[in-house]
Amino acid sequence: MAAGIAFILNDQEVDTALPAGTALVDFIRADQRLTGTRVGCREGDCGACTVLLGTPAGGRVRYRAVVSCLFPLADAAGRHVVTVEGLNPEAPNASGLTPVQQAFVSEGASQCGFCTPGLVVSLTAFLLEDPGLESDDAVTAIEGNVCRCTGYVSIRRAVERLLRELRPPLLGASARLPALIGLGVVPAYFAGIAARLRAQQPQALVRKNAVAVAMAGGTDLYVQRGPELAAQELRLLSRQEGFAAIWPAADRIHIGAAAPISDLMESRLLTAALPQLPGFLRLVSSTQIRNRATVGGNIVNASPIGDLSVMLLALDAAIGLRSLRPGGRIRQMKLRDFFLGYKKLDLRPGEVVAWLSIPLPGNGSRFHFEKVARRRHQDIASVNTAIGLDCDNDRIVTAHVAAGGVAPVPLFLKKAAAFLAGREVSSSVVREFITVAESEIAPISDVRGAAAYKKALLRRLLFAHFLELFPGRLGAGDLP
Ligand SMILES: Cc1cc2nc3c(=O)[nH]c(=O)nc-3n(C[C@H](O)[C@H](O)[C@H](O)COP(=O)(O)OP(=O)(O)OC[C@H]3O[C@@H](n4cnc5c(N)ncnc54)[C@H](O)[C@@H]3O)c2cc1C
Ligand code: FES
Ligand code: FES
Repeated sequence: MAAGIAFILNDQEVDTALPAGTALVDFIRADQRLTGTRVGCREGDCGACTVLLGTPAGGRVRYRAVVSCLFPLADAAGRHVVTVEGLNPEAPNASGLTPVQQAFVSEGASQCGFCTPGLVVSLTAFLLEDPGLESDDAVTAIEGNVCRCTGYVSIRRAVERLLRELRPPLLGASARLPALIGLGVVPAYFAGIAARLRAQQPQALVRKNAVAVAMAGGTDLYVQRGPELAAQELRLLSRQEGFAAIWPAADRIHIGAAAPISDLMESRLLTAALPQLPGFLRLVSSTQIRNRATVGGNIVNASPIGDLSVMLLALDAAIGLRSLRPGGRIRQMKLRDFFLGYKKLDLRPGEVVAWLSIPLPGNGSRFHFEKVARRRHQDIASVNTAIGLDCDNDRIVTAHVAAGGVAPVPLFLKKAAAFLAGREVSSSVVREFITVAESEIAPISDVRGAAAYKKALLRRLLFAHFLELFPGRLGAGDLP
C-alpha cells in the first residue's frame, strides 16, 4: 500500500510524502534531481517545464503534455510522468538521441537549449496521440513552448523533417505504441506501463473536508497562489466521480466541471452537436494548458474575459452546484445568473460547481465565437464574444449573446439578445443590434486596451458574427 503519493516517474515507481500541493516540477528537479525539466516562468507561459502525463484509459495509457509548474503532485498519483530523461535512457541510436531530438540537431533547431527538452516532450506527446500527424497539428502541439533564440524557423524545419521520416511508418502501423518503440521515439519500458499502473493500489485522493482548496486543473490557482498551495489541503475535483465526464441527458449535453478543455475538443458528443467548437477552443491558451484547464475553473475564476464563460453564456448553459456539506443538495440555475459582480458569484460556502449543461442544438441553430488578444495563441482576450442563435432560415427566433472584457463580469447581453428575437437579418438590424449592445457595456481602460478601443473592437466582433453566420447577407461595407 502506498504510504504517500505513488506513481511511476519515467521507469521508476515513486512514493513520496511531500505535501499534495507541491508543484510537480519541484519534485522532479529538487527531489529527484532530474534537471532536464526546466523552469522558465512558473506561470504556464513558456513550456520549458513540460512533461508527459500518462493516464490509464480503456486498457491503455493515454499521454498528454502538461506544464509541471502548474501541476499538483497529488494529481500524479496512479499515473505515469515522463521527463526528457525518461525518453532516452537506453541510447536508442548511435548518437544516443531519439528521432525527435535528432531532428532538432539535424536542423540546428536548438541554440542555448533551454526550451529544447520541453519541445521534445511536447512533440513526443503529439506522436503518441495525434491520429493524423498533420504538420499544422504538430505546430499546434508546440504552441505553448517559447524559444528565445531560434526564431522558430529551424524548429519548424525540424518538425517537417520529423513528419517526413515518421509519418508514413506510424500511419501504416497497426498499433502506435509498438511502432514508436520500434522507431526509438519512446523506450521499450513504455510497453509495460499500463500493467504496472493497474497493479498500483488505488489511492484516496478526494479530501472530504469541505474547506480544502478546490483544485481542478490548477492553471489559475498556481499562478495566483503558487507558493502557499504546498501547505494547503486540496480537494482534487478531477478525481471526484463524474466531475470530469461529458454525457447526454434528455435534450441536453452535460459537461463535468473538471473536464479539461482538451476533452471537450475530443468529445464526439460535443463535436457532433457543435462541429465548430474545437476550432474556437484552439484559441484558448496552448495545448499544455488546455490539457489541464477545466470548464469549471474558467467559470469560478470569474475572469471577465474567460473564453469558456463567454461561449457557454451564448450556448444558454445551465450550471449545477453541489454542496459538499453533509446532506448538501444540488442547486441549478442559468449560467447568466451565476455571475453577480466583479469576481462575485452565486457560490455558497462549501459548494462546488459539479457540471455545466447546454441544450442540444436544433436544425436552425448557429453558433460563433470571436476573440482578439495581443497574441493569437497563449493569451487571454482583450475582448471576446460569442453568439448562439436559433433561426428559421434568415429569421432569428431566439438569440443568446455574450461578451468579455467590456464589463466587470463575462456579460450576457440581455437587451441585445432580446432585440434580435423575431427579426430577419439585414444590415440595418445588425447596426441597431450593435447600438443596443453598446448600451449594455462599460469597458475600462487597462493593460489589455483603452476603453474606447475595446468598444470599437466589440462593435467589429459583433458584426463579424453575422458575416460568418449569414454569408452573403452582409458585406464589410455594412460595418457601422
Ligand atoms: C498560460 C496561460 C494561458 C491562459 N490562457 C487562457 C485563455 O486563452 N483563455 C482563458 O479563458 N483562460 C486562459 N487561462 C486561464 C485558465 O487556464 C482558465 O481560466 C482555466 O479554465 C482555469 O481552470 P483550472 O481548472 O485550471 O482552474 P483552477 O486553477 O484549478 O481553479 C481556478 C479557481 O476555480 C476554483 N474551482 C475550480 N474548479 C471549481 C469547481 N468545479 N467548483 C468550485 N470551484 C472551482 C478553484 O478553487 C480556483 O479558485 C490561461 C492560463 C494560463 C496559465
Ligand atoms: S516554467 Fe514556464 S511553463 Fe512552467
Ligand atoms: S534554443 Fe534558446 S530558448 Fe530555445
